[in-house]
Amino acid sequence: MNLKKKDLLDLQSLSKEEIELIIETARPFKKLFTQSIKRVPTLRGKTVALLFYEPSTRTRISFEVAAKRLSADTVDLAVSTSSVQKGESLIDTGKTLEAMKVDFIVIRHQESGAAEMLSDKLKVHIVNAGDGTHEHPTQGLLDLFTLKEKRGDIKGMNVVILGDIAHSRVARSNLWALTKLGAKVTLCGPEALVPQELGKMFGKQVRIEHDIAKAVRSADAINVLRIQKERMMDGLIPSFPSYTEQFGLTSKILKLAKKDCLVLHPGPMNRGIEISSDVADGSHSVILEQVTNGIAVRMAVLYLLAGSKV
Ligand code: CP
Repeated sequence: MNLKKKDLLDLQSLSKEEIELIIETARPFKKLFTQSIKRVPTLRGKTVALLFYEPSTRTRISFEVAAKRLSADTVDLAVSTSSVQKGESLIDTGKTLEAMKVDFIVIRHQESGAAEMLSDKLKVHIVNAGDGTHEHPTQGLLDLFTLKEKRGDIKGMNVVILGDIAHSRVARSNLWALTKLGAKVTLCGPEALVPQELGKMFGKQVRIEHDIAKAVRSADAINVLRIQKERMMDGLIPSFPSYTEQFGLTSKILKLAKKDCLVLHPGPMNRGIEISSDVADGSHSVILEQVTNGIAVRMAVLYLLAGSKV
């Protein structure tokens, strides 16, 4: 079995089997990390271009490490010093990279649908590394990989997604992946940041709860989202202290969840705002394991796309 499409744009359009294939393919790649030589020749001769229009630490570096561990070459287009600053369009930039015979373009862009637009126009493999508020598929996959590694079966798990759901591409990718694999998801956050229609879209598997104490009760995992500072400017959050008071994940709140509840965060974290430092660094936290797993999952994505039928 392989992936059906040449690109990874979202998790909405992937089947449960394709999601499981990526997770299963990532497992042996992770085992490689404990060996002295962490590299396989699988993608030797291929080139992965990183095209990031928005800041990133984890996703950009982990795609670069993933490509290098597969023996691919990487080129990192520094958008701030590129011809994008002279007004070159996204499509012309993509076509320019394609003319240089790169094999993959990994793109992060502030506009939802940017990756799909490149996918429609170009023959190279496109990987969405986060587009606007739409999706961040490899983040959803690495979150799933982490949950599966820790707990085995996702079916029936109670997963809470906590924070700014409305603007979060991570939340959307998690929702698609978790519901396809049979988890029960609770969306928790201020009313202004949790769209009612998301609850309706996913039916009975997803519920909305604005009381954090009720949301985390019997949670197997809590995925805490970053509060985006610009949202406070939009008037959607009255103040950081009031947000922290009502929706911050502290050890006191975590005690209400299951004893072995996992705490995830896609990063970067605002310590002391959406998550307290003792929780972020505590025994329930798998935040740094998510980072490690991100490399294995991205290796699996590049490997599988290279073998997909174009
Ligand atoms: N989780 C995530 O996308 O982090 P970066 O913005 O650092 O890539």
